[in-house]
Amino acid sequence: MCGIVGYIGYRDAYPILIDGLKRLEYRGYDSAGVALMNGSINLYKKQGKVADLESHVGAQSTDGHVGMGHTRWATHGEPNDINAHPHCSASGNFALIHNGIIENYSSLKAKLTSKGYTFQSGTDTEVLVQLIEMIYSESEVTPEEAVRLALNEVVGAYGIIVMCQDEPGKLIVARKSSPIVIGIAENEYVIASDATPIIAYTKDVIYLNDDEMAILTKDSHTIKTIGNEIRTPFLQRVEMELEELEKGGYDYFMLKEIFEQPKSIADSIRGRINPNDNSVWLGGLVDVHERLKNAKRFIFVACGTSWHAGLVGEYLFEEYARVPVEVEYASEFRYRNPIITEDDVVIAISQSGETADTLAAVQIAKTAGALVLGVVNAVGSTISRETHAGVYIHAGPEIGVASTKAFTSQVTVLSLMAAFIAQLKGISSFKSQEVVNELLQIPEKVRTILETNEDIIRISDLFKDSSNFLYLGRGYNFPVALEGALKLKEISYIHAEGYPAAEMKHGPIALIDENMPVVFIATHDESYDKIVSNVDQVVSRKGRVIAVVTEGDETIRNLAEFVIEIPKSHPSLMPLLSVIPLQLLSYHVAVMRGCNVDQPRNLAKSVTVE
Ligand code: M6R
Repeated sequence: MCGIVGYIGYRDAYPILIDGLKRLEYRGYDSAGVALMNGSINLYKKQGKVADLESHVGAQSTDGHVGMGHTRWATHGEPNDINAHPHCSASGNFALIHNGIIENYSSLKAKLTSKGYTFQSGTDTEVLVQLIEMIYSESEVTPEEAVRLALNEVVGAYGIIVMCQDEPGKLIVARKSSPIVIGIAENEYVIASDATPIIAYTKDVIYLNDDEMAILTKDSHTIKTIGNEIRTPFLQRVEMELEELEKGGYDYFMLKEIFEQPKSIADSIRGRINPNDNSVWLGGLVDVHERLKNAKRFIFVACGTSWHAGLVGEYLFEEYARVPVEVEYASEFRYRNPIITEDDVVIAISQSGETADTLAAVQIAKTAGALVLGVVNAVGSTISRETHAGVYIHAGPEIGVASTKAFTSQVTVLSLMAAFIAQLKGISSFKSQEVVNELLQIPEKVRTILETNEDIIRISDLFKDSSNFLYLGRGYNFPVALEGALKLKEISYIHAEGYPAAEMKHGPIALIDENMPVVFIATHDESYDKIVSNVDQVVSRKGRVIAVVTEGDETIRNLAEFVIEIPKSHPSLMPLLSVIPLQLLSYHVAVMRGCNVDQPRNLAKSVTVE
């Protein structure tokens, strides 16, 4: 959940670390800190954002060609200056930054306390750095060996970088369940939680695997396991451009990412549909055709927005591939002793590819013998590497904490997968080919919806002070109702609930009065007449209806206070269109309420801890 960055080479480390921390700030922004090696370890840390750290450092000396930085999302210990990383050992010989959780930190702390160690912070991380120091001083081993031995005592998750004053030209890096990417350039290395701080210097990277550590000098790297076996690293090239990581003139990444959707959806489709016959080809699944064809059941595991995409996927797979689907919160699935067989296909859906619960669900499903696939955005991420096969969504880097373009790309890929499995199973192709053909029109239709931005700004202004919102939809639009509500609550802090519209009568209708905005996602499909009655029921109780409707819908226009028209499409692809106005509505409401939409309070982009 935190972001870590390190540098060793010939340049000044500080600007590289600060720039890297800004790129990683989406992972946590409770506090930030930097350690620089310049004869001794110089430490700067501050509660707040990276900008606060920069002001704190001010004109102080920041010399050093070796250093590391951290941006924190607090788990153990409140966000303050003392708990900010890096943490130092008692003697000051070691400094360490950490992403993850040391689960057995209290027993390790008790052991260290009994030997006279004292602690400044409330963090689990300080326990680890003291443990390293204890082993180093008691066992007379090298710093890297002390790190390795300490990690053998740790239960939990970690991505760490360690500096030691006794070996100032070295960085020691290690990972378990917490991503580490090492960028390799001529006489320098940049290390980070993801590739974004690295690509300005090199696109050649090593993704560290679980239980591996790297020992880096400015011109050498050694990779070994924490069991002390030397590993030959696998060098990969990152396909990412610097412009993708900039706001490009938009006020927030979220807005940029909303407006990128015509392109990101097109990128998710590119090269996967044969224009001659609308058949689908998914190269990432080439080795698993038989198991896909014969699967008795699909289980989607995901969290948050990715789980909502999974719900749309359930409808798509059951409708087109005619196979039963279950959609599971990964956090529940992993702890409830699920029944999984070798005939199951488990699909992990994750933008980041690093979500701890989804990753744990992947591991459980693999152990049970299921075929495990990934529908992932971040190339080279842990879930993409831990799954047997998969399909990248190719949405490009998503930096805003609120997921937008990843959702539409996930739904796009799931619709392609549903059609592909239908093809493999020889199910009459007419229905799914119709959908595939319509999918090709979606980017242009999204572009049209984005042109309604000014109307949505006006609606947002009228409702920005509301304290509650209800979102209602049926069928394919029910997951969109959930997603619309999640978007609003996470960035504007307005309480919002999504429901299947028909469920309203079973409880939520009691909430409706003249102060309750109700957002209906009421596009034309088989249940249209039913949702019109639901709109009627809300209007007659004086609820304030904002309806997302298919263009030309006069019936709902006559009932609702506001309508947002979207182009007609195939009902099963409507989520790709109907979600766009809801993303814009939540964005504008949040901005009007003065919220930082890219860095909402208490949240971080990828949840790599439990
Ligand atoms: O990276 P993932 O897709 O696995 O992340 C899952 C959720 O944490 C994520 O979708 C979260 O709910 C977003 N903040 C939603 O906007």
